[in-house]
Amino acid sequence: NRIHSIAVIPGDGIGKEVVPEGLRVLEAAAKRYGFELKAEEHAFASCDYYLKHGAMMPEDWKERVSGRDAIFFGAVGWPDTVPDHISLWGSLIQFRREFDQYVNLRPVRLMPGVPSPLAGRQPGDIDFYVVRENTEGEYSSIGGRMFPGTEREVVIQETVMSRVGVDRILAYAFDLARSRPKKHLTSATKSNGISITMPYWDERVEAMAANYPDVRWDKYHIDILVAHFVLNPDRFDVVVGSNLFGDILSDLGPACTGTIGIAPSGNINPEGRFPSLFEPVHGSAPDIAGQALANPVGQIWSAAMMLEHLGETEAAAGIVAAIETVLAEPSLRTRDLGGRASTSECGRAVAEALS
Ligand code: NAD
Ligand code: IPM
Ligand code: MN
Repeated sequence: NRIHSIAVIPGDGIGKEVVPEGLRVLEAAAKRYGFELKAEEHAFASCDYYLKHGAMMPEDWKERVSGRDAIFFGAVGWPDTVPDHISLWGSLIQFRREFDQYVNLRPVRLMPGVPSPLAGRQPGDIDFYVVRENTEGEYSSIGGRMFPGTEREVVIQETVMSRVGVDRILAYAFDLARSRPKKHLTSATKSNGISITMPYWDERVEAMAANYPDVRWDKYHIDILVAHFVLNPDRFDVVVGSNLFGDILSDLGPACTGTIGIAPSGNINPEGRFPSLFEPVHGSAPDIAGQALANPVGQIWSAAMMLEHLGETEAAAGIVAAIETVLAEPSLRTRDLGGRASTSECGRAVAEALS
């Protein structure tokens, strides 16, 4: 089946600027590779929607998108009008949890010709995946505030790790490592200080590793791991971490490749029981919104990940190659990469490189 039906959710800020560039490239890919795309755009999951309706999404949001093959998402958040925890827990985090998108897959790759802020690094030196647990861990809704507003105020938020939840993300990460030439996996931990959940994580990693004798693996505490991202990024192939550690690593990794503006992600339900969601790693960037400065490559690369997920392998590879062609040309880069191209100039260049 080469008719793909997708829900499009631009969200806030630069989400509304980069999503159209992603769609432009998807259309060019459909033409070139001969598939059909049916896209329906939604205005919910945005702070504008919240201000009008008092909620981030309509009550029937699940029915509205659950029949789709995938969700193409921009970014959510406008902290001047809606507190971030309200806008994000009312939208993106609902998708991840309700659609059991337990894998957050985030490639980190230094592109040819793009300068890294790390001295002397060449493209092959930074080329790995962050595999982030996406439905539990530190992002839990268990906890509360006691004695609010008094001097005795106490807040507690529990970290949740289930055996099923930990094992399934580890199995995904080990499978991915096995499929790659280096066959190497790194686990992010903090079992020296976080004395209950993190030793459990380590224990499950060790148990899972026994099923993958062909995969070499190691683990680092998160504090030194971030140092190695900067000092020795060539050590990494597949890096697996809890929800919070994976979040942090997936901004730091792309920053080492020149900008977080190119980083894509797939929020994946591998069993296909629910639609998966594809979005850039970055947020709504209120500081540059509305000025045509946003780098659209993170959104466009997310489109490639979505097509890969939908079985359009050739088109996905074609988009990544088109991105490489464009990024290699300094005049087609946006300002975050030192260029002068606008969001749509960069997006059009990728679409043209494809056709
Ligand atoms: P951010 O990723 O939006 O921006 C961080 C910095 O990176 C800013 O200086 C921004 O200008 C720059 N940047 C981000 N994307 C860029 C791009 N494509 N091109 C060029 N520069 C880019 O993170 P933040 O400032 O911490 O968050 C802003 C809002 O976005 C908050 O409301 C936050 O909660 C939300 N957020 C949403 C998502 C999401 O929807 N997935 C992710 C992260 C943050
Ligand atoms: C991300 C974002 C989100 C997260 C925020 C906006 C809730 O930072 O997708 O990386 O922490 O997961
Ligand atoms: Mn993040």
